[in-house]
Amino acid sequence: MTDHEPTVLELGLPAPVRSDGLPARVRIHEVGPRDGLQNESVALPVEVKAEFIARLAGAGLRTIEATSFVHPKWVPQLADAEELFPRLAGLPGEYPGLRLPVLVPNERGLDRALALGATDIAVFASATQTFAQRNLNRSVAESLEMFAPVVRRATEAGVAVRGYLSMCFGDPWEGPVPTDQVVAVGQALLEQGCTELSLGDTIGTGTPGQVEALLAAFAGAGIGPELLAVHFHDTYGQALANTLTALRCGVSVVDASAGGLGGCPYAKSATGNLATEDLLWMLQGLGIETGVDLAALAATSQWLAGRLGRPSPSRAVRALVGSG
Ligand code: HMG
Ligand code: MG
Repeated sequence: MTDHEPTVLELGLPAPVRSDGLPARVRIHEVGPRDGLQNESVALPVEVKAEFIARLAGAGLRTIEATSFVHPKWVPQLADAEELFPRLAGLPGEYPGLRLPVLVPNERGLDRALALGATDIAVFASATQTFAQRNLNRSVAESLEMFAPVVRRATEAGVAVRGYLSMCFGDPWEGPVPTDQVVAVGQALLEQGCTELSLGDTIGTGTPGQVEALLAAFAGAGIGPELLAVHFHDTYGQALANTLTALRCGVSVVDASAGGLGGCPYAKSATGNLATEDLLWMLQGLGIETGVDLAALAATSQWLAGRLGRPSPSRAVRALVGSG
């Protein structure tokens, strides 16, 4: 007899049971260091951010959005991008296949990212005029004009470009967002040369029927799920249900943030992203491969919660390792 009480993971929970119509493998696009930390009131020291990203890579994540090359006054929490990014230079050698995308809004941001050797960037558009204005200081059309040379130059330099599209379901100023409006901006980003389009539910108001309808509308415009990723914020507890719906529609790239960190400083009603651990619990239970070690990730989120001075909002983190 031993006093050791096995953890749920040691006991083989969640027991994997496959369900038809789901992908065999999901690539998690981890956004904690960018989407998560951009919205924390505490700006973490650069060495803590670097350790966070190294620990995420150590847990098996292979796409980790590291930071943003936006205007430092707009997002002061990520103003240390020039200091942080070089500290990550050794990680891709240590973890083969690791990608470290960064957010870039304009040519100035691209110059900064290229100067540091970034190999993956993301531009970020809005499906609504109000959010485009608030987040980028431009209309939707003007922001697309701003992205065009960024996508062109990045592609010429061999840098992969993801396009984000915010406010795909609801907008805190405009209400429900018409599907054709979302598809039109998404299509424009792909036509510019983005190789992946991430559909953002920035304020988390979307529900599964809406997800299905939007993905069907994209399919109707000739944009299949192989080009799409989903990016759900969990404000109303819908992120996991919405993700499962997207997986059933053929999407296999899912954005999530370790510990459920996150939000958007220019949309106050946005809260954290879908927690990566909550997502992993579901994917593991469905027998879907991710390559990520849930125990190591939950320990990382608990460690970060200690640095941030607040418990992780992730249900799985709390259940697995306490509230931090
Ligand atoms: P602006 O004020 O219109 O900029 O801001 P500008 O082009 O007029 O330039 C003004 C000055 O800023 C110039 O300097 C530029 O050089 C400088 P000056 O000549 O006056 O000395 N500047 C820069 N400096 C450093 N880096 C730059 C840069 N750009 C200009 N990149 C801008 C326009 C786009 C820059 C601004 O609106 C901005 O930075 N916005 C970023 C907002 C942001 O990061 N939001 C959060 C990310 S989006 C998100 O979270 C949603 C997502 O998760 C998906 C979802 O959930 O839906 C992705
Ligand atoms: Mg977001």
